[in-house]
Amino acid sequence: MTANTPVPFLDLVTQHRRMETELVAVFSDALRSARFIGGPAVEKFETNFAAFCTTRFCAGVASGTDALRFALIAAGVNPGDGVITVPNTFAATVEAILQAGASPAFVDVDEKSCNMDMERLAHYLDTRCMLEKSSGRLVHRESGRPVTAVLPVHLYGQMVDMDAILDLAEQYNLLVIEDACQAHGAEHFSRRENRWKKAGSLGDAAAFSFYPGKNLGGCGDGGAVVTSDARIARTVTMLREHGQAEKHYHDIHGYTGRLDAIMAGLLDVKLAHLEEWNQVRRRHAQHYRRLLGASESVGTPDEAPWARSVYHLYVIRSARRDALQRHLHQRGIASGLHYPIPLHLQKAYGSLGYKEGDFPVSERLAKEILSLPMYPELHSEQIARVSEEVIHFSESQTGPATEAPPPRGHEHRGSAIFPI
Ligand SMILES: Cc1ncc(COP(=O)(O)O)c(C=O)c1O
Repeated sequence: MTANTPVPFLDLVTQHRRMETELVAVFSDALRSARFIGGPAVEKFETNFAAFCTTRFCAGVASGTDALRFALIAAGVNPGDGVITVPNTFAATVEAILQAGASPAFVDVDEKSCNMDMERLAHYLDTRCMLEKSSGRLVHRESGRPVTAVLPVHLYGQMVDMDAILDLAEQYNLLVIEDACQAHGAEHFSRRENRWKKAGSLGDAAAFSFYPGKNLGGCGDGGAVVTSDARIARTVTMLREHGQAEKHYHDIHGYTGRLDAIMAGLLDVKLAHLEEWNQVRRRHAQHYRRLLGASESVGTPDEAPWARSVYHLYVIRSARRDALQRHLHQRGIASGLHYPIPLHLQKAYGSLGYKEGDFPVSERLAKEILSLPMYPELHSEQIARVSEEVIHFSESQTGPATEAPPPRGHEHRGSAIFPI
């Protein structure tokens, strides 16, 4: 590796080369048995992933978006209900709420963690909602709409303050569905239980994505719902299978939403490495922090004392983000934006009625965040090189940061897949 060797945003090829024999064996077995849908490969992965998440059940589904949608429906969110989430997340979080027939309501995120701000959530529940005396239901004061769930997103690999969420959920009678699509193996120290708990094991149910670039990624799309509630698990298995618990008996409206057997087999091979990969990501994050922490013009990710992030993404902040990204790009260093337009300002969600200025922290983050290369196969020399370029750029800038908005499509996509 020379000083000019490009640094990709993500390197799945190296990972796959290292385990090629095992991965190819999964394909060969599937071709020979022709078990492509359901069967032992899916069941084995589900058992192992539930054990990894320390939940009683896991149901493999076709994507993280399906996992969110099925978890919401199975947990009891009805069409017309309100579901509270954040604008600083991937679009799928909101897509799933809308696909379940519910209506998303946003609260802003916290400046440090970039995750749901608990004070803002408490304020929203206190001032915008009320508990109906007759039914005990929480309703939105203005619309009269029942508000039935909160959907915290463990963004970038760090969990939301789940103790605070669970306290509020109890107080306001809310379901909690975790969006753990970026947080496979992340942990949260539960002050309630005085122990570390895994992402997915705290809410009523949780959704994971196995999109290729995730900490646990397949060779295509995939997802899972984990839960310790037998009724939710059973309903998810029906939803993914056209509403059937038994062949030919369609008891509820369902979907084609299964995890393929080949994907489950591939994921099971990779799952054996996940704990180790997450440790390596944490070491990489420490390395970045050591090198970048000295610069005042670069904001490094904050890890709460009660959180063990698995650094799905390593997201820094810079007032001159777009110029910094161009600088890195010119030197062969790929980077990403997660996410440059908060969801309340996306065209698709205009009908929700939000406007610029409604969620100032999310809007500020959208302008300042930059995701640096982060994956287990990254070398320390590459981290040093990326950091050196970030520091070099940042220290050479003087005067106020006034940036023109980035041209559409400027974001470096890294490879054929978009690491979302
Ligand atoms: C936070 C978040 N939620 C939901 C999803 C949806 O997952 P999928 O792409 O597998 O549908 C993703 C990732 O893609 C995500 O990052």
